[in-house]
Amino acid sequence: MRIGVLTAGGDAPGLNAAIRAIGGMAMRDGHEVIGIANGWAGLVGDFEGEALTAKDLRGIIGQGGTLLGTARYSLDDPPGGRDCVLGAIEEHLDALIAIGGDGTQRISNWLAERNAPVIGVPKTLDNDLPGTDYCIGFDTAISIVAESLDRLNTTAVSHHRVIVVETMGRATGWVAALGGLAGGADMIVIPEFPITMDEILEHLDRRRHAGLVFSIVVVAEGIDLGLLGGSDTSEMKSDSVSGVRHATRGVGHFVATKIEEHGFEVRTTVLGHLQRGGSPTAYDRINATRVAGAAYEAVIAGKYGMIPVVRDGTVVLAELSTVAVGQRQVPREIYDLCSVFF
Ligand code: F6P
Repeated sequence: MRIGVLTAGGDAPGLNAAIRAIGGMAMRDGHEVIGIANGWAGLVGDFEGEALTAKDLRGIIGQGGTLLGTARYSLDDPPGGRDCVLGAIEEHLDALIAIGGDGTQRISNWLAERNAPVIGVPKTLDNDLPGTDYCIGFDTAISIVAESLDRLNTTAVSHHRVIVVETMGRATGWVAALGGLAGGADMIVIPEFPITMDEILEHLDRRRHAGLVFSIVVVAEGIDLGLLGGSDTSEMKSDSVSGVRHATRGVGHFVATKIEEHGFEVRTTVLGHLQRGGSPTAYDRINATRVAGAAYEAVIAGKYGMIPVVRDGTVVLAELSTVAVGQRQVPREIYDLCSVFF
């Protein structure tokens, strides 16, 4: 068989572990794995795919990024991209494994509905793909957030400052919530449980009166600025695939300014792409291997239109259509835990 594999959307640590798993298992069984360059873009226009060799896969399990390259690429603007992808799969491949987040899996589902032999693999640093407890890259991201908070805490304490830390998380607050929890944040603000600026300031005042002049406030980049007394501005930038680039909303700086106006000394750290770069954790290496390995097995079994997901620690196959809608939100139980340590 000629099995295509692509990585689409933002990169995430663990993608190379997933590619290695698919490539290694296919080579073991005598199949060919075609690495598609730069996500969906590699299937539009000239076909950009090359057979992976054992040499390509050597030593990559611990490497961040994706050896295939990735892109935020619109198949609808200009129109016709989806049909090009259907044609390219039919002409060049016997099956396609698409590793990506919600946007990627919506495309995978669209292709599968048209009988294309497609399997998904869940990847998003934001961890908000519905129906799975695991997405490639999230564990590494929250480990980076936790380590960053450990470092920021010592300087916040020494200078008696508030440090506002902005994390990734476009629509949901998983990175802020669990990274913040692991890093001992003093306040965590996420889209799922909106709070007002007054509530943030009251909390910092309470800590100050208790003798705690330092605080670490973690905010997810996707929080609603309106409720905090701000608004999105024309300085924000967009792209045709993801819409607004959330890092350009400046929520960390906005919250910091308000806290400063209230009489605290404040600094801001935007963690940005540091959360996506570098070597994956052992957990991400292992689980990327598990879900990608299950995707390969699904191809061999001819179970198309599916995506391996993790539920209660077990890898199971789910219909692509079930992950292609909405976002998985941080539940109240986790948010309450984030608040306990205030
Ligand atoms: O979707 C994952 C994500 O990491 C978001 O958290 C973030 O808003 C976005 O990607 C950044 O994307 P880009 O690298 O294209 O600016």
